[in-house]
Amino acid sequence: PRLPSPSEIYQPQRANSKGVEFGDRQALAALRGSIAAARGPFMARPAGGATKVRAVTSPVDGAAVGEVAETEEAAIRDMMAAAARAFPSWNRTGVEARAGILKRAADLLEARRGVFLALLQIEAGKTLDDALAELREAADMCRYYAGQARLAGAEIRLPGPTGEDNRLRYEGRGVFVCISPWNFPLAIFLGQVAAALVTGNAVVAKPAEQTPLIAAQAVALLHEAGVPRAALQLAPGAGNIGAALVADPRTAGVVFTGAVEVAQHINRALAARDGALAPLIAETGGVNAMIVDSTALIEQVVDDVLASAFRSAGQRCSALRLLCVQEDIAAVVIERLIGAAKELRIGDPRDLGVHVGPVIDADAKEKLDRHVAEARAAGRLLYCGEAPQGGCFVAPAIIRLARVGDLRQEIFGPVLHVATWRAGRFDALIEEIEAGGYGLTFGLETRIETRMQAVARSAPAGNIYINRNMIGAVVGSQPFGGFGLSGTGPKAGGPDYLRRFLREITVTTNT
Ligand code: SER
Repeated sequence: PRLPSPSEIYQPQRANSKGVEFGDRQALAALRGSIAAARGPFMARPAGGATKVRAVTSPVDGAAVGEVAETEEAAIRDMMAAAARAFPSWNRTGVEARAGILKRAADLLEARRGVFLALLQIEAGKTLDDALAELREAADMCRYYAGQARLAGAEIRLPGPTGEDNRLRYEGRGVFVCISPWNFPLAIFLGQVAAALVTGNAVVAKPAEQTPLIAAQAVALLHEAGVPRAALQLAPGAGNIGAALVADPRTAGVVFTGAVEVAQHINRALAARDGALAPLIAETGGVNAMIVDSTALIEQVVDDVLASAFRSAGQRCSALRLLCVQEDIAAVVIERLIGAAKELRIGDPRDLGVHVGPVIDADAKEKLDRHVAEARAAGRLLYCGEAPQGGCFVAPAIIRLARVGDLRQEIFGPVLHVATWRAGRFDALIEEIEAGGYGLTFGLETRIETRMQAVARSAPAGNIYINRNMIGAVVGSQPFGGFGLSGTGPKAGGPDYLRRFLREITVTTNT
């Protein structure tokens, strides 16, 4: 196989998954019809032995969505052994064949969008807009990694003295453990799994406890597209299942998206294992900041802050947590933000007029409610909307901070913190943000060009957004991921992601 050219690596041939114009009544009716036609029963089962069966309930209204049979810890050895046995032949399957399977999976995903959108709405509580964006991102991930997969099949001739032949090639590492979060239960789940599979690895995937049903549908789809069953196995369950998978000596790599504390725990667990050394690819959270200076366009600031902080009920790792507004314009920005936040409708995300759906579960709601109550008690609550009763709803809230350093924990929901800064303290402000240790997304709203350049050069984040909102990174255009407490890299949906799933072999032959 020949070496892929840089343009093939950076822009693999593909088109982004198409959207639906909600203003087009026919298209919208067809979309909603496909969702209404989605029928359960929805069930998630592990590839190996199961323990108890439990109901999966919706954060929207507590209704039963389906059932999950959790993986029996004792079954993990057998599952890993089966995956390890499946690895060599899957790894030998040509790259083109594996890429073809991923492309088929992306096509199937679009053809069966109704069931996936229905589950994104009821199991994960997403608005139709968010659900559709996620389905498209999942298809984009499959096609993007399929397009890049030629890397995994490349055998590169390297220089050497006469009589010596040097070749470098890439292949899968073995069994990859994929541990994914509930906030993108389809796109991140499939993104991890697709990357690991297309590079020739076998996969055991543990979805988030809250969203096993959509993961089971995605696994069934990949099996139907042609992935052998033993090469991709689902292991639903709680943290003990993730821990057992990481501890298994056959685990050749772990890809994880979720809380930084869990990533640190996985790191320690991998380090404590006897036997082979395995890499961790982790994408975690952020205390993501946006700086607004007095030259910014206030209407745009309001629009971008609203989307960044409250869209998806703030449950994106990219979401804006810490808004830093220059003192001179703070009063007017805050007043308009509150005015705009009052217009947001909170409720059942299946209602097209709703902007903010539920948070993922009762625990998340309780934590967020407590955080807002503490701010209220401290006299720092600038605004809090009203959440309807009955589901896991948390109304958008805005909290004033005395100092940037007062927020060092990621608050994962629709809660925005605002601090002000004085002219002349721009550089100090960036240092204070950097001192938090996270480095995921960063926003800047300004019309000063030198400031844009300075932030582009040195803002402490993996994804920097200037004069736009800070969410919704597009596969292949905005490779996504951070550093420090925010993750290890490489970036998902970017040109270097697949390499980390591969091992490199150099063969030197004296001819
Ligand atoms: N990739 C998502 C975004 O960019 C975050 O999880 O919003």
